[in-house]
Amino acid sequence: MKLTLKIWRQDSANSKGTMQTYPIEGIEGDMSFLEMLDVLNEGLINKGETPVEFDHDCREGICGSCSLQINGEPHGPDRMVTTCQLHMRSFKDGDTIVIEPFRAKAFPVIKDLIVDRSAFDRIQQSGGYVSVNTSGNTLDANAIPINKQDADSAFAAAACIGCGACVAACKNASAMLFTSAKVSQYALLPQGQVEATERVENMVRQMDLEGFGNCTNTGACEIECPKGISLENIARLNREFLSANIKG
Ligand code: SF4
Ligand code: FES
Repeated sequence: MKLTLKIWRQDSANSKGTMQTYPIEGIEGDMSFLEMLDVLNEGLINKGETPVEFDHDCREGICGSCSLQINGEPHGPDRMVTTCQLHMRSFKDGDTIVIEPFRAKAFPVIKDLIVDRSAFDRIQQSGGYVSVNTSGNTLDANAIPINKQDADSAFAAAACIGCGACVAACKNASAMLFTSAKVSQYALLPQGQVEATERVENMVRQMDLEGFGNCTNTGACEIECPKGISLENIARLNREFLSANIKG
């Protein structure tokens, strides 16, 4: 395939970025999107030009670092895949592909296509943990019976990889889907009850402090989420938050 890439280039957090155009050829349908960018960068390096910086680690849909806005959609046109799992067969010979970083005030651009998503880490640090009795009388987690439906829902919420696509997809740049997944994975389990009240209050407070927008129930986050995190989690977060406020 021959393609035209329009890529956001930005030297640093404080510099002004622009879209740059790069023709590329020899792209196979079986290549992943990141392998296509590797080919581009090899060509740029061979010409003595600066390669395009982009984030990646596992390249198998686990780490959540390969966050790119591709033709206006977080992680590109396919559903339930991350950018590293997107294959070039999803595009046609002659296509123009627009590649940008995730856009949100709380995700400032570091360089080119890399954004700073440490706001998510700080939300996690504010409540994404459980207390365990380590006095010697620790109850084996497997000995605590948990309703199958709750266990499945907690597991589904825990599938969130913190990629930020929900924020990038949202017209308000809201982090409600991410935060609700992190709250839900504990709210549904007995082990999560000890800090339940502080958890939801602290995580919502931190989410607001980081500058994420409000949720207006548009649902774009759920559609673009590569891990199928459901809007039901946002409803659960709202219930948890209300009940924490009532408890005071
Ligand atoms: S909720 Fe989905 S889109 Fe948002 S960070 Fe988690 S995995 Fe990514
Ligand atoms: S590189 Fe880890 S999810 Fe894509």
